[in-house]
Amino acid sequence: MKAVHVLNGPNLNLLGLREPDIYGHATLADIEANLSARCKRRGLHLYFRQSNHEGDLVTWVQEAGRAGEPVILNAGAYSHSSIALHDAIKGAKADVVEVHLSNVHSREVFRHRSLISPVALGVIAGFGALSYELALEALLARAGAAGEA
Ligand code: DQA
Repeated sequence: MKAVHVLNGPNLNLLGLREPDIYGHATLADIEANLSARCKRRGLHLYFRQSNHEGDLVTWVQEAGRAGEPVILNAGAYSHSSIALHDAIKGAKADVVEVHLSNVHSREVFRHRSLISPVALGVIAGFGALSYELALEALLARAGAAGEA
């Protein structure tokens, strides 16, 4: 594993300002800085991106999948609605860890269903910014177990 793609969907650019009681005070730039330092220590290239547009996320998932590089995906509200992202993950055979800052299962019913989960390696939700770190650790452990550097 030489690179990891961290892809963030709609409204995650508002982190820090957006419902801090639910999503915490860390900004997306804080999360990026933290992951960037962790990736640097492990010699991993980090692609860290955010878009409010579904098609951008589809394109980035396809790129990562076709490059054989894993993805940490917080698709935001698209997690609950996007057949296009589901198909992109499947179609590009992307290794995806689905993450959410909040525990979506303790929130509104419309957040309980994810179209990403059935095609993800696993799901981490409810730990705030730590969800991203845990996802990175999971990918590293998985690569290690598979005998990769
Ligand atoms: C979220 C949860 C989603 O339900 C919501 O639409 C988001 C953020 C999270 O990180 O907790 O935008 O993905």
